[in-house]
Amino acid sequence: MNFNSHENKTIRDFGEQWLKYSDNEGYYGSLELFSDILNPFLKPENMRGCKIAEIGSGSGRVVNMLLQAGVRHVIAVEPSEAFEILCHNHNIEYREKVTCLKITGDQIPAYGDLDYIFSIGVLHHIPDPIPVVEAAYRALRPGGHFFVWVYGKEGNELYLRLIHPLRVLTKRLPHFILALLVWAIYIPTAIYIKLCHRFPLPLREYMLSVLEKMSPEKRRLIIYDQLNPEYAKYYTRLEAEKLLSDGKFKNVRIHHRHGYSWTVIGTKPLT
Ligand SMILES: C[S@@+](CC[C@H](N)C(=O)[O-])C[C@H]1O[C@@H](n2cnc3c(N)ncnc32)[C@H](O)[C@@H]1O
Repeated sequence: MNFNSHENKTIRDFGEQWLKYSDNEGYYGSLELFSDILNPFLKPENMRGCKIAEIGSGSGRVVNMLLQAGVRHVIAVEPSEAFEILCHNHNIEYREKVTCLKITGDQIPAYGDLDYIFSIGVLHHIPDPIPVVEAAYRALRPGGHFFVWVYGKEGNELYLRLIHPLRVLTKRLPHFILALLVWAIYIPTAIYIKLCHRFPLPLREYMLSVLEKMSPEKRRLIIYDQLNPEYAKYYTRLEAEKLLSDGKFKNVRIHHRHGYSWTVIGTKPLT
C-alpha cells in the first residue's frame, strides 16, 4: 500500500468507528480531560473569545471541549463519514459558532487569522503529515499557535511489542468481530488498572491518570481505537519535535504526557 491508500483506508476506518461510537459523554468529553491534554502549555481559559480550528475532529469531542471553554468560533475539519455526526454532535445553542469542513487537514483554507489550531490524536494517523503542518501554518495568524498531540514511542516499548503484531490482524477485522475482541481485552485491562494501584507496571501513569477515569464504554472505544485504524505511528521525542520545528514554527516546546505520548506546541512568528 502507498501513502495515499493508507491514508484513505485510515479515513474509512475512522468513518466506521465514529458511526459505532458516536457520543462524547463523561470524562472522555470533559473540560477536565481537556485541561489535562493542554497541560502544561495552555489552559482552557486561554481559548476564550478565540478563533480556532481543529484538524481531525472525529465525532466532535474536542470541538465540544473548545465550545465549553468559550471559544468565539471553531472550524472543525473531518474528512471521514463521521462528518454528519460531527455536524450534529454539539449543542444547538452553539450552532453558529461551528463551521464543519469535510476535507483533509492539508486542505484547510489559508485563513491567516486563526489564534490556535489543534490536532489531537490525528497526525500519527496520517502517513505524510508535513502538508498538514504547512497548511496549519498558513491558516494561523502571526503569533498564533499550533498544538499537536501524538502517540509516543518512549514509554510504550513493551506495549508496542504486543500491539504491532496484533494490529496486523485487527485492522483487517470486520466491526462486529473486532468489537467482540475488544470485550475480551477489556476485562484483563480492567484487572491491569487495579494492579497498577499496587505495582509500578508499564503505562501505570496513563492507566491511573487517564484510562481509569473513563466509563467502561469509553475504555472499550479506546481499545477499539488502538486496534482499528489502518495507519498508526508512534513518535519518538525527536520525530514529534521535528514535526513542527522542521516547518517554520518557532518556540517549539514538547512535553511527555503521562509518560506515553507527546504534546508539541509551536508559534507562527510575528514577522
Ligand atoms: C483518533 S481520531 C481523533 C478525533 C478527535 N481529534 C479526538 O481527539 O476526539 C483521528 C481523526 O483524524 C481523522 N483524520 C484521518 N486522516 C486525516 C487527514 N488526512 N486530515 C484530517 N483528519 C484526518 C480521522 O478521520 C479521525 O476522525
